Amino acid sequence: LQAIVDTAVDAIITVDEEGRVEFWNQGATRLFGYAAEEAVGQPITALIVPERSRESHLQGFRRALQAGTFLKTEGMAEITARHKDGHEFPVQISLAMWQVLGRRRVTGILHDLTRQKQLEAQLLHAQKMEAIGTLAGGIAHDFNNILAVILGFTELAKMHVSANSALERQLREIELAGKRAKDLTKQILTFSRFDQTERQPIVLKSLIKEVVRFLRATVPTTIALHTHLTSEASVQADASQIHQVVMNLCANAEYAMRQTGGTIEIRLEDVAVSAEQAHLHPELHEGPYVRLSVKDTGPGISDEVLPRIFEPFFTTKGPGEGSGLGLSVVHGIVTGHGGAILVHSQPGQGTQFDLYFPVTHPTAHHEIPLASPSYIGGSERILFVDDDPSLVRFARDFLAQLGYQVVGYADPQEALTWFTANARAIDLLVTDQTMPALTGEALALAMRNVRPDLPVIVCTGFSHTMTPEKAKALGIEELLLKPIEAGQFAEAIRRVLDGAKVSRSP
Ligand SMILES: Nc1ncnc2c1ncn2[C@@H]1O[C@H](COP(=O)(O)OP(=O)(O)OP(=O)(O)O)[C@@H](O)[C@H]1O
Ligand SMILES: [Mg+2]
Repeated sequence: LQAIVDTAVDAIITVDEEGRVEFWNQGATRLFGYAAEEAVGQPITALIVPERSRESHLQGFRRALQAGTFLKTEGMAEITARHKDGHEFPVQISLAMWQVLGRRRVTGILHDLTRQKQLEAQLLHAQKMEAIGTLAGGIAHDFNNILAVILGFTELAKMHVSANSALERQLREIELAGKRAKDLTKQILTFSRFDQTERQPIVLKSLIKEVVRFLRATVPTTIALHTHLTSEASVQADASQIHQVVMNLCANAEYAMRQTGGTIEIRLEDVAVSAEQAHLHPELHEGPYVRLSVKDTGPGISDEVLPRIFEPFFTTKGPGEGSGLGLSVVHGIVTGHGGAILVHSQPGQGTQFDLYFPVTHPTAHHEIPLASPSYIGGSERILFVDDDPSLVRFARDFLAQLGYQVVGYADPQEALTWFTANARAIDLLVTDQTMPALTGEALALAMRNVRPDLPVIVCTGFSHTMTPEKAKALGIEELLLKPIEAGQFAEAIRRVLDGAKVSRSP
């Protein structure tokens, strides 16, 4: 009998009339951490009941003894129990009272509910995320179409007003706001997984290295950035989405440590998910994964905030500071990749996000281009000029991602001054047409004066002053109409650079 009782997974405990432990099986040792020798003779409530509820348990026990009859089942209940190490967990308990030689005893069978509760919570959470995602995604989808109309008609209206008029400026503001709204809806579509993306086998390590290089340039020096990238495995992924995931996590870490400074640690490791872990986290399956961890030494996340961080629009930041979309986008992307996210955070202890991506080709050795795989890149040197500094920043990041070396200016005069001293330092000029002080056309002409063979791409909105015919007549290689789509931009640059090479070689 002892053997049977000991192989039971559940805890089987018998106590005497005073509530002192008489019998304690191995299941009880596994569940509560006390060996039988430690437990026997001790009051059961002191061992496994959290202090705050001991008194009520004792009273209940006494009442049951008074009313109790031999072998009466007291029924089943769920209580919170305490482990030897102090952590609390839910158990299901069934009690039976019995009598030998006039002395009553109570035997309890206690079953650990931790996993069941976790699964319930995860299921609820997953359902909630899905419901929010479907709702928000549906709205965003319709919204996107409406925005396309607003933006389209704004473009059209701009054709009918003269450049630099008050009306043109106002239309530009509408356009700008419209584009911001478009950005936002795009993010919502990402977390709700409405937009399907192209995935290819990617060696995450090279991609992460690239992001880190970018981060080093942007994260303030009070925050140290450490990396530990050991995994060489490739996963089926969308490069630009993974890029966004790391950026969002690091942006949060950076924000959390802005006042105090601290350390961000980015790790990339091969891990094998065990059957046991897979059981605890239904999104994970047994097998090889690449784990991407982003850990900070910030203030951590409180218990009230933690369950809500992945909700879209949930933020603890002030108005205008955060949209609350960062982590919901991360969540959408990671689950869209068949992966899972685990968060470890405690107030004062920092925060760690563990992202698990299933490995597709653990032995694949081919590396794919660093930037988004659908864009073609190069290594040439490009001068980018646009009076909108945010566009200059974008172009710098984007083109650098594609492998180009980029010099960017928001002031065409400054660009020209720089160029005059460094005429041979670039292979291509990309410039906006409508800029105060100097138009793109004038800038291109001035530079061509110094270097007649310089290839030029001019970007323009619907402008009266520049047409494809005029561009051709000026010898401008390409005229790109704004808003420029990233893929087209990359292609045009490649086309012009390759064309320039061909025409120069005899
Ligand atoms: N590393 C972290 N340390 C402390 N708190 C965090 C961390 N990451 C996220 N949080 C908490 O989770 C909340 C939600 O994060 P999320 O990235 O979704 O939105 P946000 O950062 O507030 O806004 P957005 O990312 O849109 O600018 C944050 O407001 C913050 O309270
Ligand atoms: Mg954020």
